[in-house]
Amino acid sequence: MTGSGTNFGASEVESRPRNKCGGKLYIKTYGCQMNVYDSLRMGDVMKPLGYAPHDSFEDADLVILNTCHIREKAEEKVYSELGRIREEKQKKSARGEKMLIAVGGCVGQAEGEEIIRRAPYVDIVLGPQSYHQLPEMVTRAIRDGGGVVELDFPAVQKFDLLPESTSPQGVSAFLSVQEGCDKFCSFCVVPYTRGAEYSRPVNAIEKEAKNLVDQGAMEITLLGQNVNAYHGEGADGKIWSLADLITRLANIGGLRRIRYTTSHPRDMSDDLIAIHGSEPKLMPFLHLPVQSGSDAVLKKMNRKHDAAFYLDIIAKLRKACPDMAFSSDFIVGFPGESERDFEATMQLVKQMNYAQAYSFKYSPRPGTPAAVEEQIAEEIKDERLQRLQALLRDQQTAFNESCVGETMPVLLMRDGKHEGQLLGKSPYMQSVHVRNAESLRGQLVDVRITGAYLNSLAGEIAYTEHKIRKAV
Ligand code: SAH
Ligand code: SF4
Ligand code: F3S
Repeated sequence: MTGSGTNFGASEVESRPRNKCGGKLYIKTYGCQMNVYDSLRMGDVMKPLGYAPHDSFEDADLVILNTCHIREKAEEKVYSELGRIREEKQKKSARGEKMLIAVGGCVGQAEGEEIIRRAPYVDIVLGPQSYHQLPEMVTRAIRDGGGVVELDFPAVQKFDLLPESTSPQGVSAFLSVQEGCDKFCSFCVVPYTRGAEYSRPVNAIEKEAKNLVDQGAMEITLLGQNVNAYHGEGADGKIWSLADLITRLANIGGLRRIRYTTSHPRDMSDDLIAIHGSEPKLMPFLHLPVQSGSDAVLKKMNRKHDAAFYLDIIAKLRKACPDMAFSSDFIVGFPGESERDFEATMQLVKQMNYAQAYSFKYSPRPGTPAAVEEQIAEEIKDERLQRLQALLRDQQTAFNESCVGETMPVLLMRDGKHEGQLLGKSPYMQSVHVRNAESLRGQLVDVRITGAYLNSLAGEIAYTEHKIRKAV
């Protein structure tokens, strides 16, 4: 969940007169994979106006911060980055050049005009549902000198209004199929920043998936804030589930792997569980956030499931696909969480044996119900987070160590940190480092795992047929 410059691939731009559209576009992305995908689409929508990618805000003509509002820290990062960008804008201005600054994403949606009050040098603020309006907003900001804000949730979905995706994403690609959330967990801003659940129609998704495969994608991760609640219009005009969609996409020749994220336990339907056992392109790894192991806390969180329900879903998934590995999100120090509640979380983790997991201290978010409850002391949150993370680290290391000696298919995606090293992904989302394999870049190859670390595996190319793991 760190920020990164987004490169959406296009040619150099010629120098152009001041106050005209076009030039160097720098997009910095914070937060979840949906923001990574949205940044690519913003790049697509700005290309016809002559904006081409640039890898830093220095000397950029248009800077877009695609922001995240999920925790307080995520929001703070945006304001400190804006301070740095302001200096560059002033330098450019002294040279008689113009830089436009736009704040998009979930901070844009949540704070709106407040951003321009706090940082008056910001020209444009827009929410995640308004990206199709970006070209018009940029034109207006150039003409009127800034102050352009667009936060409506339009009746027409942005997906129908955005141009077709043209940004190659490489061998592993993201594809948003669902957006928004109707669950209203009492800690979470997403239902407010992304709006109501919406599922894209199957035909549009299939077309985009085929394009991605034509551009070289072998793995596609289907994205949604609550992706397994997917209920889009099917190819036959009926409503299709995520399982129906995955089954359809699995027919695309050349597509080798399908993943989906993020899911809610309540929406883990029987058909979706079943295809984990029957669809070989669907990877045996699932990020299924539980947040807490305590029923009392889950109730206060308005999660709409208890610990037993979650464990039952996991048992069904393991039955359907015995080598399935799991990941989760946890919040510690939620208002009212007692030591006993926290122990219940530790207990659930021990029962689960996660392959990996993310854990966070509860961060009160303005406008959400839990923010006005009595808060847990910071030292208690810190101490609980450390205990939970130590346990999760042990489980992750143990899972990685259990892979040593196995041979598994690895998608070799890009350069590793060290010279001569390629980095790939295992079926279970582990990073795998391989040496002397340059000629196999971008391919799905069998790798024998030779070493395990906390965050990665080391392996060597195996020339024998791979065996899929049978036990986790
Ligand atoms: N849609 C996904 C995840 C959304 S946000 C889901 O339903 O699980 C990603 C994670 O951020 C959440 O799973 C939760 O663990 C964490 N999170 C959300 N709001 C938070 C808050 N106010 N404080 C701390 N962590 C939070
Ligand atoms: Fe947030 Fe809950 Fe919706 Fe996930 S399911 S996005 S945690 S409200
Ligand atoms: Fe953050 Fe918005 Fe994603 S709050 S996690 S960028 S949906």
